[in-house]
Amino acid sequence: MKILLFGTTGSAGAAVLDACLAASVVDEVRAIVRRPLMNTSPKLRTFVHKDFLNYATVEDAFRSADACLFCLGISATQVSQEEYRTITYSYTLAAANMFKLQSPGGAFHYISGQGTKPGSRMFWARVKAQTEQDLIDLVEADCWRPAFIDAKPSPSLPKLYAMIQPLGRLFKPFPNLYVHGHDLGRAMLQATVEKLRRRIIENAEIRQIAARATF
Ligand SMILES: NC(=O)c1ccc[n+]([C@@H]2O[C@H](COP(=O)([O-])OP(=O)(O)OC[C@H]3O[C@@H](n4cnc5c(N)ncnc54)[C@H](OP(=O)(O)O)[C@@H]3O)[C@@H](O)[C@H]2O)c1
Repeated sequence: MKILLFGTTGSAGAAVLDACLAASVVDEVRAIVRRPLMNTSPKLRTFVHKDFLNYATVEDAFRSADACLFCLGISATQVSQEEYRTITYSYTLAAANMFKLQSPGGAFHYISGQGTKPGSRMFWARVKAQTEQDLIDLVEADCWRPAFIDAKPSPSLPKLYAMIQPLGRLFKPFPNLYVHGHDLGRAMLQATVEKLRRRIIENAEIRQIAARATF
């Protein structure tokens, strides 16, 4: 499979990248990033890009891909509401539009998060809910709602979160509360193999899908 990956420099995205590079079903990963990556795997192609509302200059990366794994995102505590909506909704929909054009029928996987809900009191949850719905309508996306993702903290994570991050492993015995980042990546690949579409996938099911992967 040829995989298009967003958010590779992030905590979730780096773990998803590792899962892709380790998976026998993946031939090539194309990462759209703001800065070059240190990883030099022969399976990895890096596309350094600046404007995440317009992907015309990296069209090649989108061509004939089997799946797009969209792990780009930001905490609502780090930016204004306007910026949060642009990054969460507009960047994602712009990528989905280009993906649909260049890889019609490909699988689009979007990480939203546990608690995403249309009528939520939380602004971030409403934005993610709208993003999910519009992606399902546009590209029959699968929307992944992990709780705590166990992965190496990225430099962009808030310092407090990075400090308490290891405590999240205490949730490991609870299927609704914990998923390893690799398993999130494996689950996305397995869902592509199984041709799952238009699904909202909560944490416990992410673990179940990952457990079915044999690659
Ligand atoms: N971590 C968790 O436990 C968890 C749980 C549930 C849901 N999620 C969701 O998963 C997604 C990824 O989370 P994460 O923890 O991996 O976050 P992260 O470590 O902060 O990584 C965010 C990624 O998005 C990219 N990004 C952020 N703002 C950008 C911008 N303005 N333009 C281009 N790229 C940008 C970052 O690129 P740069 O490196 O270039 O900044 C990085 O690759 C988010 O939507 C988050 O809500 C995470």
